[in-house]
Amino acid sequence: MDIIQQLQWRYATKAFNTSKTLSKPQLNTLKEAFNLTATSFGLQTLSLVIVENKTIRESLVPYAFNQKQVVEASHLLVICIQDNIEASDVTEYYNNIKTIRNTPETILKPYREQLVGMMDVKTIEQRQQWSKNQAYIALGNLMTVCAIEGIDACPMEGFLPEKFDETLQLKQKGLKSVLLLPVGFRADNDFFATLKKVRKPINETIIEL
Ligand SMILES: Cc1cc2nc3c(=O)[nH]c(=O)nc-3n(C[C@H](O)[C@H](O)[C@H](O)COP(=O)(O)O)c2cc1C
Repeated sequence: MDIIQQLQWRYATKAFNTSKTLSKPQLNTLKEAFNLTATSFGLQTLSLVIVENKTIRESLVPYAFNQKQVVEASHLLVICIQDNIEASDVTEYYNNIKTIRNTPETILKPYREQLVGMMDVKTIEQRQQWSKNQAYIALGNLMTVCAIEGIDACPMEGFLPEKFDETLQLKQKGLKSVLLLPVGFRADNDFFATLKKVRKPINETIIEL
């Protein structure tokens, strides 16, 4: 497997083959990849909502500017952020480190206090923006893993998050939708699959000093 070849192979898929679905192992790979995404401090203020139900997805299409990928893909991945970050999230995270790594409290305490303090001075909007930055990393990670695994996907921010939150009852879960990634397999007749990649010449985007 050549990674550059796979990154050339992938494209923002507009038409999916509606009769092909991801296998359980493929879905598991995406779940693990999402959970393994690096996040700032490792706090993981993200969740991945996986929507398979076609009726629900059909109802979301109008809120995604009628982009059919939302319903035609095998699964719709919705990358969400927590609507807030509380001191208890930080405490839980450090408790998890303690359990997994057996790190002594004396070592963890100053780091925990520093992170609680850092979040404390942020407004809720700033905390959400901080989490959104992590959501984009998760999107990139999932897209690369999809490319490696031969899974088609379409990164999407063209949708109405409030409507998605309402339909998927995300507020009750303390979440807000940020990004979509319909995943599955390209339709044989997806016109976009035939198009050449449009990228700047590499010497315009890479600066070597
Ligand atoms: C953050 C982000 C949001 C995007 N939103 C949409 C979208 O809402 N609908 C869509 O069809 N494509 C969307 N795209 C796909 C881009 O248009 C596409 O990735 C870009 O033109 C490069 O083409 P390629 O991915 O096919 O190589 C989005 C891509 C990114 C990275």
